[in-house]
Amino acid sequence: MNENNIILKAENIHKSYKIGASKLKVLKGVDLELKKGEFAAVTGASGSGKSTLLHILGTLDKPDDGTVIFNGQQLFASSDKYLNNFRNKKVGFVFQFYHLLDELNVLENIYLPVMASKSIFGWFAVKKQARNKALELLSMFGLEDRAKHKPYQLSGGERQRVAIARALINDPPLLLADEPTGNLDSQTGNGIMDVLEKLNTQANQTILLVTHDKNIAKRAERVIKLKNGKIDNTKG
Ligand SMILES: Nc1ncnc2c1ncn2[C@@H]1O[C@H](COP(=O)(O)OP(=O)(O)OP(=O)(O)O)[C@@H](O)[C@H]1O
Ligand SMILES: [Mg+2]
Repeated sequence: MNENNIILKAENIHKSYKIGASKLKVLKGVDLELKKGEFAAVTGASGSGKSTLLHILGTLDKPDDGTVIFNGQQLFASSDKYLNNFRNKKVGFVFQFYHLLDELNVLENIYLPVMASKSIFGWFAVKKQARNKALELLSMFGLEDRAKHKPYQLSGGERQRVAIARALINDPPLLLADEPTGNLDSQTGNGIMDVLEKLNTQANQTILLVTHDKNIAKRAERVIKLKNGKIDNTKG
């Protein structure tokens, strides 16, 4: 396979948690490859380590062993400066419980990652552009008349669409989503999958989604199963 087509590659990922004197081995040698433009889902039972794996792939957590390579760069061998830039610009995160700030309106929530990456003066220089981009994303997700709403004034599905817009504000090449439909009824959840599918097919957005829901997973191009701390390559 042409390595240039691989956006993310994890090799031999191990992760354990210490609980008192005992050690809980969660990931026991996970290997995974994600191609540019691919939409893949990671499934597995509750507690199988899906979130742990996603956090490691996004460098929100460190593996005990193994490597994660993003566009040819070994993430855990990189400087803090590289990793900060990676987390802010190269990867977008979407979580089950949205993690929006209730004090800010929808528009402000969406452009917050741009603001966070700038100095005060730098922010003034790009504010208009960031605002326009946020409005563009809102209208793409059918929420143009919700810009001034606070997150608590929105439905669950609307909140998740705002969270997806926030994850995309810096045009990250990679979108990581942890149970983005986990808090929604199946119809609303499928609406969120429609949004992700559209991003993938129309904007060629690379997406790795974690879900325990088989009906959600099968809407992705490829399903990766996590079992007993490893990727399960058996069929069925
Ligand atoms: N910070 C932590 N400290 C100790 N144990 C942890 C920690 N985080 C996760 N675990 C344990 O690791 C295992 C895997 O957790 P993880 O959250 O990755 O599972 P999951 O597959 O995402 O589950 P779910 O589908 O319920 O979200 C669980 O048994 C959990 O209890
Ligand atoms: Mg989880």
